[in-house]
Amino acid sequence: MAYELILTRTEGKVGIVTLNRPKQLNALNNELMDELGAALKAFDADENIGCMIVTGSEKAFAAGADIGAMATYTFSDVYKGDYITRNWETIRSIRKPVIAAVSGFALGGGCELAMMCDFIIAADNAKFGQPEVKLGIIPGAGGTQRLPRAVGKSKAMDLALTGRMMDATEAERSGLVSRVVPLDKLMEESLGAALMISDYSQLAVMAAKESVNRSFEGTLADGVMFERRMFHAMFATADQKEGMDAFVNKRKASFGNK
Ligand code: HXC
Repeated sequence: MAYELILTRTEGKVGIVTLNRPKQLNALNNELMDELGAALKAFDADENIGCMIVTGSEKAFAAGADIGAMATYTFSDVYKGDYITRNWETIRSIRKPVIAAVSGFALGGGCELAMMCDFIIAADNAKFGQPEVKLGIIPGAGGTQRLPRAVGKSKAMDLALTGRMMDATEAERSGLVSRVVPLDKLMEESLGAALMISDYSQLAVMAAKESVNRSFEGTLADGVMFERRMFHAMFATADQKEGMDAFVNKRKASFGNK
């Protein structure tokens, strides 16, 4: 499929999607989100891909949903058109890991998109925020739910109610991002993590992702039981035999994803 608003490429077993509306600071419109969903689904279905990276430009991961497009939307437009749910949430159905490599602005829907990924690696120039309140709206792609789970209620309220930005240091300190790296090392570091993940058993990686995601739903006891059953299931895989045999015999494991 030919894309107009994103770029896709692979590096080894890693699928990389670059948001590509630089003049609009990667403002996220429906067309871009359709393309992003399609690209991620294609990588997810590709046996040769083990992990994905979503990234933007140096200046902006994404400065939010496209305000120009939203400005004239009516309630019936967004309700009937299932705005956000229809295409933004495709990313939630992706089973292989997705890393957000964030430099520059990740605001509004851009911050929400990063939070929908499995973890965030931030460049030292990254700025995160939920400034929707300044536009007379609220976050609409999960920001009011995922941000407090990541940074706690007080900071999430602070960000959503004042609309202020937080820098990469504050984002790492508060648990929103997993690592902060110099801007010129962002892709190298993200790719390093993605290649490492891609070398593991896809079965183990998907089960780990699914189990961690369970911690956001339901009770602790249900989550632990889900994890336990997934853990038990790993012993039915050839990859478990391979991984443990490789360790015992002091050799590198080679996983067949079976
Ligand atoms: C449409 C945008 C945009 C956006 C920037 N641009 N953000 N267009 N939607 N979200 C455009 C500008 O209009 C401008 O176009 C060009 O990108 C460059 O932006 P500047 O403002 O000139 O750059 P700068 O001065 O460096 O300021 C950067 C900025 C600012 C601080 C990020 O652009 C800004 O505040 N943007 C809006 C951020 C925001 O409110 N995001 C939340 C959106 S609501 P021209 O044509 O003038 O060059 C949202 C809802 C989520 O995300 C809920 C559902 C998903």
